[in-house]
Amino acid sequence: MAKVIAITNQKGGVGKTSTASALASGLQEKKYKVLAIDLDPQGNLGFCLGAETENAPTVYDLMKGAASIEDVIQTNNGIDILPANILLSGAELEFSNIGREFMLKKGIAPVMDDYDFVIIDTPPALNILTVNAYTATDYLIIPMVPEILSLLGISQLTETIELVKGVYNPKIEVLGILLNKYDARRTLTKDVEEMAQMIARQLGTKVFTTKIRASVAVAEAPAHGQSVFRYSPKSNSAKDYRQFIKEIISQKGMKDGN
Ligand SMILES: Nc1ncnc2c1ncn2[C@@H]1O[C@H](COP(=O)(O)OP(=O)(O)O)[C@@H](O)[C@H]1O
Ligand SMILES: [Mg+2]
Repeated sequence: MAKVIAITNQKGGVGKTSTASALASGLQEKKYKVLAIDLDPQGNLGFCLGAETENAPTVYDLMKGAASIEDVIQTNNGIDILPANILLSGAELEFSNIGREFMLKKGIAPVMDDYDFVIIDTPPALNILTVNAYTATDYLIIPMVPEILSLLGISQLTETIELVKGVYNPKIEVLGILLNKYDARRTLTKDVEEMAQMIARQLGTKVFTTKIRASVAVAEAPAHGQSVFRYSPKSNSAKDYRQFIKEIISQKGMKDGN
């Protein structure tokens, strides 16, 4: 049975997609079987992983029951991908059926034994798509950047997690807060790090030991159709993401996807 990890934060630009992409590629390089799911109508994760997003069935069709999972999965560089596109933005209005919170979980259920890890990227919102991700997942990773504004809104995020935990998915666990675009030399970084520690305590979790430093390679790699590891293996971000994957795999209950 696959371990499911969703990357979440309702703020945009904190590194959700970059982290989802790095996790999927890095775990695949370690020979784990990975399914990457793009739940953001912007379709960026699919793009990063080289999926066709415009003229192909997407996760939207799967959730609606209009396509089978075999028809939606694309394979690229050894990673299976459920892509998304802008049609997914209609979800909030369109998915009004009873059980709408379970549409993703139901859609991927037939293939859960085929993977070691399922990585879900989420939109910069707390909406029905986010709730579907939380309902389908075992773990949440919350990326944050060292900016004061990035810490605001955390109480809504906490409320959404608690709601899903109470109603749809009691076993959901926040694995940790990942500090991204990290620069230890900046004073602000220290302040934000302390605040992140406080938030982590509120969420009953931790700040990951590994921090991700900024490198242009993260922004450039997708345009070259490559992972950050292949595009610039010696960049700080690639080194940090490699270390982060080690930290993830070493978490209790995570190894070998068991
Ligand atoms: N560690 C990093 N170093 C440099 N640029 C980064 C890093 N992480 C993210 N970025 C860049 O910041 C922007 C937002 O990142 P992204 O992963 O798309 O965030 P989100 O999915 O949370 O909106 C992108 O242009 C991305 O390339
Ligand atoms: Mg994104």
